[in-house]
Amino acid sequence: MSLWGGRFKKDTDALAQRFNASLNFDKRLYAEDITASIAWARGLQAAGVLTGAEAESIVAGLEQVRAEFDAGAFDFHELDEDIHTAVERRLTEIVGPLGGKLHTGRSRNDQVATDFRLWVMRACDCLSEHISGLQRALIASASGDLNTAMPGYTHLQPAQPISWGHWTLGHFWPLARDRQRLAQARERAATLPLGSGALAGSTFPVDRAALASALGFSAVSQNSLDAVSDRDFAADFLYSATMLGVHLSRLSEQLILFASAEFGFVVLDDAYATGSSLLPQKKNPDTLELTRGKAGRLIGNLTGLLATLKGLPSAYDKDLQEDKEPLFDAADTLDLVLPVMAGVISTLQLRPDKMAARLQPALLATDLADYLAKRGVPFREAHGLVGKVVRRAEEHGVALDELSLPELQSVSSVFEADALEIFDVQAALARRKLAGGTAPEALQQQLRAALAQVPE
Ligand code: ARG
Repeated sequence: MSLWGGRFKKDTDALAQRFNASLNFDKRLYAEDITASIAWARGLQAAGVLTGAEAESIVAGLEQVRAEFDAGAFDFHELDEDIHTAVERRLTEIVGPLGGKLHTGRSRNDQVATDFRLWVMRACDCLSEHISGLQRALIASASGDLNTAMPGYTHLQPAQPISWGHWTLGHFWPLARDRQRLAQARERAATLPLGSGALAGSTFPVDRAALASALGFSAVSQNSLDAVSDRDFAADFLYSATMLGVHLSRLSEQLILFASAEFGFVVLDDAYATGSSLLPQKKNPDTLELTRGKAGRLIGNLTGLLATLKGLPSAYDKDLQEDKEPLFDAADTLDLVLPVMAGVISTLQLRPDKMAARLQPALLATDLADYLAKRGVPFREAHGLVGKVVRRAEEHGVALDELSLPELQSVSSVFEADALEIFDVQAALARRKLAGGTAPEALQQQLRAALAQVPE
């Protein structure tokens, strides 16, 4: 049974029928479709379009369809084009021709937009939950080694000492922004298109505000043309998901480096690493590499959707059927990546000895310049003087902290005996007391702020 038999002399070509069909992927919207249909049936009842008995019977029929789906017992037919057609076809088998009244005043155009928004709202909540799990793992790792010193890098060159807690929490906050973005995407999805009909609205006096609150939407759309073709919410969701993927990719990239023999700062747990089929000595960070790789896939989903949307005239066009798979794929990808990443983090073994071995005194050159600046030397000048000190150490083939006081004083008379005390890494961390810095008390404060974001 096709939905438009009246006007057509011929059936759809079998291949064209398959080409048109979206059931294969939109069947996962069955719960949203049925929930929205039940609300619509109630709306029709309140508008006097359905009698109480008719509405009861339709709602009971829809609940039966839902139960069949839930049990994995729904029997799909060859001609079911999409989830909306399948649900209505089955409803009509259960309740008879009355089932045909459900679609009064409604179109698949406002129906699919409603279903998809409901799905996005749920997907935002679900992803956000997964992100919290990873954030808790980062917090646990950070608090276990809050002040364990390690080199910090810019341009991937050793720059200044930081601590494991500082580094780890540095990956917590991007995820906090991801959760914020998902909450905003959820809010933007929560505008109800139902009642927009195919494009021009509906002649049946259904109370859209009541529909919205019954379905958990916070607003109703203002323009029916816009409502049936607005997929901004889908792009917002995908951008949020992609940004999250990019953050996870950066975290992965850095852990891959840290786990390499060249750095050796961390050891991946066997449960999250793989071996090589040829090289017995290898332990590969496949889970992290795959996470980095998945970011490319997410970016592809986002750009694909934007390309689909860019040429569309107003109201529904079938191109819009292409909107769902990129989001489903993004959600499925992240539903797997996030718990795996939480596992990687919570089983990560640190090697503070390897980190310490890389904490060259040269990483404290800035602190030596600050020493001079605190004694009145303009910082630009102090920077130049310490540059000379560094060169001198290089010429002598010694580390920065091995220069004698007279040697320092030959560069600047401002240096006194306490200048040599600068080369203490823990003291250097402790000097950065400003909010966001490496000092233990600043880190404690940051940790508390992080914990407040993801209460158990
Ligand atoms: N399966 C379609 C989609 O996902 C449903 C809407 C179809 N509407 C139409 N006028 N052909 O977009």
